[in-house]
Amino acid sequence: MRIEPATAVVGHVAVPGDKSISHRAVLIGSICEGETRVTGFGRSGDTQATVDGMRALGVEIEDVADDELVVHGVGLRGLRAGAVDCANSGTLMRLLTGIAAGQEGGFTLTGDESLSGRPMERIAEPLRRMGADVETTDGHAPLVIRGSGALRGAELAPEVPSAQVKSAILLAGLNAAGATTVIESVSTRDHTELMLQAAGAKIRRTAKSVTVEPAGALRLGEVVVPGDFSSAAPLLVAAALIPGSDITIHHLGVNPRRAGLLDVLERMGARISVFNRDRVGREPVASVQVQPGELIATEITAEEVPSLVDELLLVALLGSHARGETVVRGARELRVKETDRIEAVNDGLRALDARIQSREDGWTITGVPIRLRGGRMDARGDHRIAMLAAVAGLASREGVEIEGADTAAISFPGFYDLLESVTRR
Ligand code: S3P
Repeated sequence: MRIEPATAVVGHVAVPGDKSISHRAVLIGSICEGETRVTGFGRSGDTQATVDGMRALGVEIEDVADDELVVHGVGLRGLRAGAVDCANSGTLMRLLTGIAAGQEGGFTLTGDESLSGRPMERIAEPLRRMGADVETTDGHAPLVIRGSGALRGAELAPEVPSAQVKSAILLAGLNAAGATTVIESVSTRDHTELMLQAAGAKIRRTAKSVTVEPAGALRLGEVVVPGDFSSAAPLLVAAALIPGSDITIHHLGVNPRRAGLLDVLERMGARISVFNRDRVGREPVASVQVQPGELIATEITAEEVPSLVDELLLVALLGSHARGETVVRGARELRVKETDRIEAVNDGLRALDARIQSREDGWTITGVPIRLRGGRMDARGDHRIAMLAAVAGLASREGVEIEGADTAAISFPGFYDLLESVTRR
């Protein structure tokens, strides 16, 4: 696919429902009592894998519309043993492992080539400390979980700040004897805690920890999913980069543990306004408007990384256009995402003429306040690299040819159409 340069991106839009929250609505809805109606569901390659996976384990899920589902919960221990193909989704594989650990029977979780290369001991090891029987294949998928009615609560401090690891532990804790606590040195997204609270689980939170008590029964009833901040991010960054742009995204999830990109855009000099603040369920939503400004370089540190972990690729692009030297540190995690995102961004943006140098844990980028030349970028099978390439194309002088652009559908099937609808040439 070829993305030609834009003169501006302009418009008022909404983006599909949040991927993290959509996964959780189906997974947690499956272990609730009764029906959970999910509206604003963000249907994508990843979330469809979760729907198919829970169906394979005996959960009835009605497709009411593309963005609406009804999940018929089977209760906290009611999943049927079986095999699930998690496809490209790390969230599905890791959260489902936590749920399966407390069920009866055997569960096998497989994934595609990318997912099968990602580290899984980070969930297997803490779950084993709770008494779970989780086997990895040399630290990776396939995973075999022999569910047990005998999990015990524990206090665990995962080495890497990861919402997926934290969530796997908390979900296992629902079926454990005694309380389960996760201690976090750096806070990660809290969608699981918020949804479990809404379902009636006993959750205690401090600045650095979250504790779940064993649950009797959960009931969600309804989940309204806000717009996905990570799907909005490419549009927000395009608006910050291209003179004359003015984008507003409505009903957008702005959970502070997700929306770190807004702070970064603001301190780099873009004009941001956040209004119509509201809440859907326990999640904050708002309208977010972005207009360009003269961008200046910034530094990102390890503490900030979890709040924009999936948006750091876009920060590298912003840095390429910002006066001065932008440094992203403490982001080693990017090496074990859908692809090694540190090298993919380094190679990809260099090919467009950016002055970027990868570090072990991020990048150093020397910005020039003119458009990049453009060229070819390979998505490497990674949806977020494909979307980065598209924004880079709009902001370039000669356009960008994206190899493997289709992979955007892993998180955002309508991405290119929405982008085109706001693009002026
Ligand atoms: C996610 C957590 C993050 C993020 C991923 C989705 C989630 O991963 O990168 O896209 O839904 O919990 P980690 O928790 O492994 O950092």
